[in-house]
Amino acid sequence: MKAEILKILRDSNGHVSGQELCRKLGVSRTAVWKNIQQLKEEGYQIEAIQNKGYRIVDAPMDILNASEIKSRIRDEEIGSRIYFKEETDSTNTWAKRLAEEGEVSGTLVCADMQTSGKGRRGRSWSSPKGSSLYFSLLLRPDILPSRASALTLVMGMSVVQALENFLNKPVQIKWPNDVVVSGKKICGILTEMNAQIDYIEYLVIGVGINVNLTEFPREIADTATSVALEAGTVVSRAELAAEVIHCFTKNYGIFLKTSDMTGLKETYNSMLVNRDHEVRVLGAENGFTGVAMGINEKGELLVKKADGEIVEVFAGEVSVRGVYGYV
Ligand code: BTN
Repeated sequence: MKAEILKILRDSNGHVSGQELCRKLGVSRTAVWKNIQQLKEEGYQIEAIQNKGYRIVDAPMDILNASEIKSRIRDEEIGSRIYFKEETDSTNTWAKRLAEEGEVSGTLVCADMQTSGKGRRGRSWSSPKGSSLYFSLLLRPDILPSRASALTLVMGMSVVQALENFLNKPVQIKWPNDVVVSGKKICGILTEMNAQIDYIEYLVIGVGINVNLTEFPREIADTATSVALEAGTVVSRAELAAEVIHCFTKNYGIFLKTSDMTGLKETYNSMLVNRDHEVRVLGAENGFTGVAMGINEKGELLVKKADGEIVEVFAGEVSVRGVYGYV
């Protein structure tokens, strides 16, 4: 109910009477009052004036909890259920546990801190408290497991679109799904799946966005950046998370029409930082160099070698580096 109260108060220009809140929420005055007290304890300054009602006077810039995220999510199926904890091992692991217990598709799992944040290729993901976004989306799409890896690309482009509302500079994708700003990584995505040969039980798309942190561990200090560093100001993590969910909901709908990137390919390619650039493909049988041309419908990167041969590079197999550095 706190999320609904927040939404109503935020959307209103003036005060909202207790009676109106009761009517809209279908609850008693005491229930409204109790929830308002809890919001105050969480740091919201809510004015209560007799005969006028309640009004939010001030709220900390960056509160992160389930009500705050939920109050900012539009009426969308994705994110209609939200789990939040101050601390967890990894939101991906937690989301997988919930999936095993039967939790529904579209559930969002978020934490303020991870003790065992996971990155791609078995790496860890630095996940300090109070400054970044760590969330995972549980989906049960009715598509073939072989199509699932493209959903990571769909999330990547959704993060780009969301970040464009917060930053006044280009936000791009390093194929397949690192989001980069000023040549540095600002977001990483890890997708995990439980599937039969022809059926997906569930899929968990984990997103880590460096939001308000300004210092990084030494190993990544040269290649990582954050929204605050790039925007020069602290931003609301809940607002950013809700924006990502909103963009993903739109893109996911387009993806599901064909179960591939047909309807999204052009937009994705326009975001590609390494498009038309020389890249080095690592990890394939023999690493090779070529020019990145963009993705195909399957989400594979088309790389043109010097002899004119065009190689379709599948994300699971390789990593792509700029010839001169990270991008
Ligand atoms: C990468 O290596 O680029 C992927 C990083 C993915 C990190 C996110 S944070 C939320 C979710 N939970 C995890 O343990 N990992 C992902």
